[in-house]
Amino acid sequence: MNTMVQLPDADKYARCVRASKAVRWDIEKDVIRGRSLEISRKFLPDGLTLIRETASLSDAEKRFAGQIQGRTYANIFGLVERFITAKLLEIGQDHWLGNQHALEALVRFSDEELKHQALFRRIEQMMGEVMPAGYRFDVDPDQVARAVLSKSSWAVLVLTLHIELFVQNHYSQSIEPDAELSDLFKDVFLFHWKDECQHVVLDELELRRLDATLTQDERDRGVDDFIALVLAVDGILQAQAKDDVSYFAAHCGRVAPSREMENLAKQFLKAYRWQYIFSGATHPRFQAILKDMITPAQFGRIEAALAALNRSTN
Ligand SMILES: [Fe+2]
Ligand SMILES: [Fe+2]
Repeated sequence: MNTMVQLPDADKYARCVRASKAVRWDIEKDVIRGRSLEISRKFLPDGLTLIRETASLSDAEKRFAGQIQGRTYANIFGLVERFITAKLLEIGQDHWLGNQHALEALVRFSDEELKHQALFRRIEQMMGEVMPAGYRFDVDPDQVARAVLSKSSWAVLVLTLHIELFVQNHYSQSIEPDAELSDLFKDVFLFHWKDECQHVVLDELELRRLDATLTQDERDRGVDDFIALVLAVDGILQAQAKDDVSYFAAHCGRVAPSREMENLAKQFLKAYRWQYIFSGATHPRFQAILKDMITPAQFGRIEAALAALNRSTN
């Protein structure tokens, strides 16, 4: 029988530093390698795009719709990494003195997120080269980061943990096993995943460290802040689903009936909510960590907010 060895926190930080050094990669030399995106192949797997559920689209249209979602997928990560980097740099100040492995782990984490943002800008530019003009992603990462960072650190760290946990699941359960994906697109998320494996350990360490300093009232406000952040994410997803389907309609090569496109926009929103909200919120590790920190009543408030979103999707 395998037994999980429980390492002391100081050892976990040191192990994250070692792992970060071992997987260190370069955008051009390791990921891009002179390749371009294969527009004849899928970008995102069906398990994330849910595009198979859309019976009205031809196979080529499904591929195009999935590629649009893949482009948005890369852009969403570039977006959230702006506030994640800022928050990690801020809380990293607590480690200036003392455990230098913890300081190094968070410095490397921030450095990696800056590299990820550069990678996703590079990929957006490459997708722009192979896809028709007119795609829009009008969300300003600084503006979003300012709004997110106005909430309590506890809530921002819970949101960050949620994101970095679903990144891992998306890659290992959907992206990695799909043989039909663009090799380059797949590699982007392979290299991203290599770093996120350490990040998620650090997210939990920092969240639990912060949580131990909070009063009941502060944690309770943190729960409200987290719910507000999830709803703010949803607002971005609602707008992007509409923009992405307008882009699809303009370039799918036929006159698409408005009723069909309204349904497709609903389907895109359902996929986006699955990708960025529910696949993380239902992650067993996420739920276990949350339940460790908050009361059943507080957990119930989060569940109720998510259930309301889910009802409005279906
Ligand atoms: Fe990242
Ligand atoms: Fe990360």
